[in-house]
Amino acid sequence: MLVKTFGCALIGIDAITVTIEVNIDRGINFYLVGLPDNAVKESQQRIEAAITNLGYYYPHKRIVINMAPADIRKEGSAYDLPIAIGIMAAAEQINTDLLERFIIMGELSLDGTINPIKGTLPIAIKAKKDGFRGLIVPKENAREAAVVEGLEVYGVETMHEVVAILNGNAHITPVAVDAYGDGPEPCYEYDFSDVKGQENIKRALEIAAAGGHNVILIGPPGSGKTMLAKRMPTILPPLTMAEALETTKIHSVAGLIGRNAALVRTRPFRSPHHTISDAGLVGGGTYPQPGEISLAHNGVLFLDELPEFKRTVLEVMRQPMEDRVVTISRAKMTVDFPASFMMVAAMNPCPCGYYNHPDKECTCKPGMVQQYLNRISGPLMDRIDLHVEVVPVAYKDLSSKSGGESSAAVRERVIKARKIQEERYAEYPTIHANAQMNSQLIQKYCELDEPCRNILKNAMNRLGLSARAYDRILKVSRTIADLASSECIQSEHLAEAINYRSLDRDNWGS
Ligand SMILES: Nc1ncnc2c1ncn2[C@@H]1O[C@H](COP(=O)(O)OP(=O)(O)OP(=O)(O)O)[C@@H](O)[C@H]1O
Ligand SMILES: [Mg+2]
Repeated sequence: MLVKTFGCALIGIDAITVTIEVNIDRGINFYLVGLPDNAVKESQQRIEAAITNLGYYYPHKRIVINMAPADIRKEGSAYDLPIAIGIMAAAEQINTDLLERFIIMGELSLDGTINPIKGTLPIAIKAKKDGFRGLIVPKENAREAAVVEGLEVYGVETMHEVVAILNGNAHITPVAVDAYGDGPEPCYEYDFSDVKGQENIKRALEIAAAGGHNVILIGPPGSGKTMLAKRMPTILPPLTMAEALETTKIHSVAGLIGRNAALVRTRPFRSPHHTISDAGLVGGGTYPQPGEISLAHNGVLFLDELPEFKRTVLEVMRQPMEDRVVTISRAKMTVDFPASFMMVAAMNPCPCGYYNHPDKECTCKPGMVQQYLNRISGPLMDRIDLHVEVVPVAYKDLSSKSGGESSAAVRERVIKARKIQEERYAEYPTIHANAQMNSQLIQKYCELDEPCRNILKNAMNRLGLSARAYDRILKVSRTIADLASSECIQSEHLAEAINYRSLDRDNWGS
């Protein structure tokens, strides 16, 4: 007898429906065709054990399984369940009426229990698009799938339950989640008010968050750079529904969605260690997997100790930073992973760490400060809008001063500034924040009056700022003006923006 079941293959962050045809005939042997990888080929052993251990009948006949489309490689163990169900249906132990209405995915244990899989959200999106009635997936993944409206999603723990659902005598009800409801407010374990003093740094981070600017913090050890950067997500605006779906898809494919979790609700904060490889950072592998820059999509990529990262690794990040998407090419396929993130970097100013320290002497030889900075390539430095020098807070302030504003208060202002930008860039679908302006938009929205032009000209000359600083200063001024709800860029906005170009000064490090 021939039956069909349906599963999904993942390509990048999208799913493709896979038809699994099972035919049982007289004879003996087991054939699995349609470009399965080793994990899929091994499924025969798991399936036979699971079926017999649950007390069902495993047909020792000629079983041929064909997975279509045959030109897509099927990887992983998540096809165990649809294949097992196909075999049982072909052996006439399951009613076949409902089989073509459901996508079925799950990994089997030898005792017939079902283990979680990756990529449930993209699978559910595809199921909806292709007009399936629902999904039968491992219980831990069900809430994630149920985010997609209009699907019957069953979360199952054993194969018994799957058989019962398909035979129409199950006592489980489909899972429902209210993805569009308000849900709980994102909660963070950190808050800006934990940081004593450092008002100017907090201000710089507020500007960065408001305009989506990349920012670098430079300061001696223990000055609080890591501490400040970790609090960045707490002042970013909440994820929109579209952003949450995109981010969840990427995390889902990477297998990072927690058990029984639905949508990712907080902006990601990724802080890869400086020993990370190219593939780890931008993504890669035989079956392309998202890298850190994609896992940070719609959130923050924090690169602590920036000069310690291998230069080549930072180099591969340049193109995705520009395009906000990373393309990974393999012989048989090309995969795009979204990678729109805000980079926050931190570094010591020099090898000993104490250059510019208020109390301690820097022991580096002349020229070493500049040399240390040169470890970061020019083009990468070019993409950083705000340079912030962090000076340690004095001990007495650490013990006495209160932390100041909470993250929630700062976030309110950030959200307001983002609203202004949303309206401004309404006609440009790919631009959401000031940091993303191209030179035409800079000309259009960052017009300076005569006095401002003079301030900028003088500053460029006096501080010896490079030409590349020019556009950066204008974009940051635009954000500062937005934070002040000011239509035009005024001199104080410009002056503040000029302050954030420390590393461009020709006397830096000398
Ligand atoms: N302004 C501050 N308010 C409260 N605690 C602070 C402040 N600055 C530093 N600290 C304390 O000092 C510790 C060290 O800070 P942190 O690790 O952020 O320094 P860093 O600048 O990243 O240093 P390194 O260059 O060594 O990485 C923090 O965990 C925190 O306990
Ligand atoms: Mg640190």
